[in-house]
Amino acid sequence: MFLFGQDLILVTVGEKSPKIHSVEKRQCPKAERNWSIVGGLACFGLLVIIGIIVGVVVSQTHKNTGSSNSNSNANSGSGSQKSISGDPSSFTKDSRLKQSFYGIAYTPQDSIYPNCNIQLADVITDMQLLSQLTTRIRLYGSDCNTTAMVLEAITRTKVNMTVFIANYPDATDNGVAYNRQKAVIQSAIQTYGTDHIGGLTVGNEFILNYLDANGGTDPNSAVGNQGAAILTPLIDDSKAMLKTLGVTMKIGNADAGSFFNNKVLQDVDYGMANVHPWFANVSIDDAAGWTWSFFETIDVALAQKLSNKPDMSIAETGNASNGPSLASEANLQKFMDTFVCQANANGTEYFFFEYFDETWKDIQFGGVEGWWGLFNSNRTLKNIEIPSC
Ligand SMILES: *[C@@H]1O[C@H](CO)[C@@H](O)[C@H](O)[C@H]1NC(C)=O
Ligand SMILES: *[C@@H]1O[C@H](CO)[C@@H](O)[C@H](O)[C@H]1NC(C)=O
Ligand SMILES: *[C@@H]1O[C@H](CO)[C@@H](O)[C@H](O)[C@H]1NC(C)=O
Ligand SMILES: *[C@@H]1O[C@H](CO)[C@@H](O)[C@H](O)[C@H]1NC(C)=O
Ligand SMILES: *[C@@H]1O[C@H](CO)[C@@H](O)[C@H](O)[C@H]1NC(C)=O
Ligand SMILES: *[C@@H]1O[C@H](CO)[C@@H](O)[C@H](O)[C@H]1NC(C)=O
Repeated sequence: MFLFGQDLILVTVGEKSPKIHSVEKRQCPKAERNWSIVGGLACFGLLVIIGIIVGVVVSQTHKNTGSSNSNSNANSGSGSQKSISGDPSSFTKDSRLKQSFYGIAYTPQDSIYPNCNIQLADVITDMQLLSQLTTRIRLYGSDCNTTAMVLEAITRTKVNMTVFIANYPDATDNGVAYNRQKAVIQSAIQTYGTDHIGGLTVGNEFILNYLDANGGTDPNSAVGNQGAAILTPLIDDSKAMLKTLGVTMKIGNADAGSFFNNKVLQDVDYGMANVHPWFANVSIDDAAGWTWSFFETIDVALAQKLSNKPDMSIAETGNASNGPSLASEANLQKFMDTFVCQANANGTEYFFFEYFDETWKDIQFGGVEGWWGLFNSNRTLKNIEIPSC
């Protein structure tokens, strides 16, 4: 499964089962590209740093298919609005929750286009809970009025929360999804301002998905560059939109940790990299160290080589298991215990994956996709103890 030296195996976990791409016979040491960086690490004997796993490029696709809704009924969740009781800014704190996470990945319930039924009452509850765990969240897209809903909930709860809002474009629709989300992002910024916004992330696993769909494996290959040629105009368009609004905001991109295209990364202020020990099949004892080393040696190192030196953070990391069959609350606990406070202490920026279990992912993709939450899907805390840093 894991090869060293000249061979390189790429593991991408898609909707249901892992797809294994083998990129064989890379010469080492060689070249500047991502794959070669990984191969090169093996060649240079830096295996020690990341234990037995170097040579494996891991990534995975969380199918947050994005989304917003052009249907205003669905956008406003009309029909079955849950009522909001009392003053959302006065809520009982849960003593089990501690503000220990740098950031947390969040997708609101019922916010997947075209099935929009997002409820402000739910998002308010989520902000009340999330604010007890972190001061930063990242979103994946802006369909279903997600951006406005989250900013409205932050306003009503008065919590200290910075949101990395997002536009989740589709490579195959001629900008339809992008433009639909751009419109609601623009209107949310006009309504709420930028006080609670940390940045606008354009693209989530765009290059990974593009390569997957077009038979590529190397993000900086001709195929990867074709994907970049679709994405960078959208990033540039978002910059122009912000300029028109007269606001200053960082623009970023999120992709799997080994799937950054240099042209994309050169066009943004920040990059968010998914780095999942689970998909690397590393033992739970090695998971925290593996995550950190992978991020530093692949993503931070790449950013440093680019002229714009984008800020890098871990977009998603979470649950680790001792082999895919042994996912457990105990392992989630151990990963938190070995990663969270340590990463905070050494300035590693990360978004823990994720807030709660997502039923729609379980239905749509099955496997592990729906089960990464700190909370169950009904918003009860799992049987875990939040680390206290
Ligand atoms: C809000 O959170 C930020 C970190 O995201 C922190 O720097 C700031 O001090 C916090 N503000 C308050 C009022 O607690
Ligand atoms: C959501 O979008 C609609 C417009 O489509 C807007 O009228 C509404 O106020 C927005 N915000 C919230 C929090 O629902
Ligand atoms: C930073 O934190 C990570 C996560 O726990 C840890 O694996 C790594 O060794 C730390 N790095 C340094 C230089 O302390
Ligand atoms: C994961 O690692 C274990 C040993 O740690 C190995 O037995 C298993 O085959 C690996 N699974 C995959 C999918 O590589
Ligand atoms: C994450 O941990 C939970 C238990 O908290 C478990 O149910 C789930 O399967 C785990 N997911 C993965 C991907 O390991
Ligand atoms: C919430 O979900 C968890 C996991 O499915 C379950 O064990 C628990 O009983 C549920 N709690 C409530 C109050 O529904």
